[in-house]
Formats: sequence, structure tokens, C-alpha cells
Amino acid sequence: MSSSRLKKQLALPLVATAMFAVLLYLVLPSFTPPSPVEDLRAGAPGFYWVQLLTKIALWLSLMFVGVRLAGAFLFDFAFRIRKGREAPSLIRDLFSIVAYILIAAVILKHFFDLSLGALLSGSALLGIILGLALQDTLGNLFSGISLHADKPFEVGDVITVGKWMGVVESVTWRAAKIRTFTNHVVLLSNSQIAKEAIEVCPRDNPNARLVFFNALYAHSPDQVMRVVREAIRETENVRRQPAPIVRIRNLGDFAVDYEIKYWLEDYVLHNDTDALLRQRVWYAFKRAGLNFAYPTQTLYIERAKSVANPAADAETLTGRLSATEIFAPLNADELSQLVCASRSHTYAPGETIIRAGDEGDSMFVVHHGNVAVQVNDNGQSRTVATLGEGDFFGEMALFTGEPRSAHVVAAAETEVLEIGHEAMKSVFDSNPHLAETLGQTIAHRRAGLAASAEIGDEQKVSAGVISAIKRFFRLD
Ligand code: CMP
Repeated sequence: MSSSRLKKQLALPLVATAMFAVLLYLVLPSFTPPSPVEDLRAGAPGFYWVQLLTKIALWLSLMFVGVRLAGAFLFDFAFRIRKGREAPSLIRDLFSIVAYILIAAVILKHFFDLSLGALLSGSALLGIILGLALQDTLGNLFSGISLHADKPFEVGDVITVGKWMGVVESVTWRAAKIRTFTNHVVLLSNSQIAKEAIEVCPRDNPNARLVFFNALYAHSPDQVMRVVREAIRETENVRRQPAPIVRIRNLGDFAVDYEIKYWLEDYVLHNDTDALLRQRVWYAFKRAGLNFAYPTQTLYIERAKSVANPAADAETLTGRLSATEIFAPLNADELSQLVCASRSHTYAPGETIIRAGDEGDSMFVVHHGNVAVQVNDNGQSRTVATLGEGDFFGEMALFTGEPRSAHVVAAAETEVLEIGHEAMKSVFDSNPHLAETLGQTIAHRRAGLAASAEIGDEQKVSAGVISAIKRFFRLD
């Protein structure tokens, strides 16, 4: 308690004490000479009562001053020095209540010869009246004591009790005072708090929030999540660690629903921070050419497969294959036949495209993105090569009939063109010399898989692979 508050609290009892003292010792004696109580009682009963009540009033005001001073000493001085923090208001209140009751008992005993214990135990009716009158108060008091013992929340924490959510401003023996986010003060009685489930967001806890948004199905999740992650990276009040998470929440009717999970520095500002994140997402979407979804109905008209690939797409795919080393010798017709026979697939980062040991009757060309070729090295995955746009993979199993020699995993969002056995057979039929180029590539890659391979080995392997390809495709 600050000294100015203490002064304010003491002012009234001190003035009252001075007033009663003046009345008792200066004003009243001037009406009658001091005399024993018995004489007064006999001669002037009215005056006796005035004097007695003034004395009681003087003692009561002294009691106020004494209890407040003792409270200030105990809790503002001794407690603070010992514990280094402010004493809980519940303890202060309990101290004052007990002190007032004890002093009142002493005053009653002194002036009326009445014992508080006898008074309470002797009167069943008084007990019932007091019990009923104090039912709620005692309920609050005991709930307050258990709240203080459990300490589920402290001043500064954000709590939700029933429909009320706010920042705790004080906890007394009767109630907890919270300030809602619309700046209203709500008093929650301790017994009400004890009955309800309380959600507590402690001030020093990394409290998390979820913010939802959606995007059109046309946008790839990888791109959406990358754009949003980047946008919210350095938002004020968002903790760097743990890093915010962006993930798909649901594949909805009209859109892909996403959520951002992030942790706050200061939970009290969660509404502002949620709003800031939504704003950042909106601008990031705009910059990246992404769109939010709104309820729509889409009419799909299915066409024959050959028409499904629009001309423009076919042109880009032909361009991609002609830039791929092994297909460079093919003429425009052969390339467009190959495009028609190929299928395009998109993989998310981390997805496996080829699994080592599997059977394989197709090969792949990377159209967008990149992939990692990985082998198992004593239980550890080792990347032997990274292939980018225009590179091909999966040719070893396709051309030799052997099981897949390595795992191939998408290192980023990746689109690949898959070309099957039949399509490659017709390519070889018209370009038998391709077997040689491929033989060399395969031999070189095999050498990369076995770290100890030497150049001499590679040439031998190449010759072996070429004849294997020729046999496999019956080219001789
Ligand atoms: P395949 O064996 O069918 O499946 C795994 C593929 O990984 C393999 O074909 C090659 O295309 C590719 N691969 C294997 N080793 C290497 C390497 N050292 N460098 C590049 N690609 C490789």
C-alpha cells in the first residue's frame, strides 16, 4: 500500500479519535465534575450513557487506527521485505477482520462484561441469523481462501469464467475483479469462480492463438503456406520461438481452410495481434496473386482426354522435353507424341516420388521444382544428387528392368512428367542411338550411388547397361 493511500485511510479514524477524545476529556467534564461511575449512574443516567458511548466510540476509532497501522507494518513493510512482493489482499482482509472481531470482543467485555463466545454460543437464534446472513459472505471467504491456496491465477493474467473474459486486476476475500476487453470492470464472486471452469492464460506463459483463413483450391497449399509464413514472420507481439505454424485445417466446400497457430509475447493484446495477422495475410495474398474463396458453385464440363491439355500447356511441355538432354535429338512430332503420352503429377515438399526397391516401368522429367535422390547409408538417409528443372530420373529401373536404385523425394513443390514404357519404346524404335547416351548416364549415376566406383568401372558398367537396354526393349 502506498504511503499516500495509508494517509488517506488513516485520516478519518484519526479525526474521529481526536474528536471523541476532545468530547470525552474536555467538553463532557465541563458539564459535571468527574465522579465515580456509580454516582453518575444514580444521579444522571442519560449523561452516563453519553459518556459511555463516547468512550466506546473513542476506542473503536483507536481500534481502526491501530489495525490499519499494524496492517501497514505487517504487509507493506515486513511481508514485502521478507517475500519481495505485495501481500495478497485476501490475507490483509482476513487479518483486519480477525483483528476487528478480537478488539470488538475486548471492548464488549470491558464495557458490558459480555463475552463474545458466550454471546455466540448462548444464543441459538443469533447463530441462525448470523449463519443465514453470512452464508454468501462465508462462502466467498472460504472459496477465496481455496483460490489463494491453489493460486490458479494472479493479477495480470487473462481469465475466462463463464461468459466473462478479462485481465485480473485484483483478488480479494470476496471477489476477483477483471477488466474485460471492452474496458468494463466485472466482479466475479469467489464462490462463483469456484463453481465454474476457469480458463487461465498466465501472463508469463507462451499462450497460443489460432487465426483462420481460406484460399482457393486452385492455389497449391505449399505456395499458400510459404507466402503466409513469410508474411507473419516478424509481426509485432508474435513470439519467434516457438515459430508460428501454418497448416490446413479442412478441405472445405468452397475453399481450402487454413489455420495459423502462433504464440504471443503479451496475451492481453491478442485481439490486436489476431487482427494484424489477418491484415498481413491479406496483403501477402495480394502481392502473391492469391485469392480468398467465397461461396461459389463451379460447373465442370468434362472433355475428351486429348483436348484436356490446352495447346499452350502442350507447347510448354514440348519445350521442357526438348530441353532435356536425352530427348534433345527427337524431332517436333516425336516430342509432341511423347507429351501426349506423358502424365503430369504435382508433389508436396517432402513427398516420395520413387521408393528404392520398388518395381518401376516409367521415368520422370522435372518440369517445376526439384528433387533429392537419396540412398540408405547404414540406416541414415544420404542425398547423392539434387535434380532440377529439365533433369530426368527413374530411367534406371525403366531401361534395365531392375528395382528402383534410390529414393527420390520432392525437395520443394514439384511437378514432374511421367513417361511410361510404351512411349519410350517408340522413342527408341526411331532413335536407337539414344541407348548409348542413356547407358552412359546410368553408368555415371550408378558410380555416384557406390561411392568407391572408379572411372574404369563406369565404362564397363556403361557397356553392360547399353546391352541390357537393347535386350529389354528388343532393339537388336
Ligand atoms: P531408378 O533406379 O529407376 O530410381 C531411382 C532413380 O534415382 C534412378 O533410377 C536414377 O534416375 C536416380 N539416381 C540414382 N542415382 C543417381 C545419381 N547418383 N545421380 C542422379 N540420379 C540418380
